[in-house]
Amino acid sequence: MSSWQTIAKTSDVPPGQGRTFSVDGKLIALFNVDGEFRAINDLCPHMGASLSEGYVEKGAVMCPWHAWRFCLKDGSWLDAPKSKVRTETFDVRVEGDTVLIDVDSGDMFEPTSDPSEK
Ligand code: FES
Repeated sequence: MSSWQTIAKTSDVPPGQGRTFSVDGKLIALFNVDGEFRAINDLCPHMGASLSEGYVEKGAVMCPWHAWRFCLKDGSWLDAPKSKVRTETFDVRVEGDTVLIDVDSGDMFEPTSDPSEK
């Protein structure tokens, strides 16, 4: 099942940056990666920092609090690829100047996990 909802205008998120939007009571971080939009759960699975405020580079975001890096495409934790820790991702599509996400495509959210699981 899918549930596409408007999240922002394309101009709301400058290239190379992220912004937080609330959709269905959930905080979503929307990123503009060289004109492609990616959406993830805004809350870092470590301790809940806003990932939209992180540094974006090479298709990943670095959490502003403790520098964990997450892939914006699949949500994987790039610093420990074998870990089960990841962040939730959402399908995104652009129609004209409007960005939509499928709120039902978010597959999971693992809360804080033990970093020693690396
Ligand atoms: S809160 Fe994100 S790495 Fe710690």
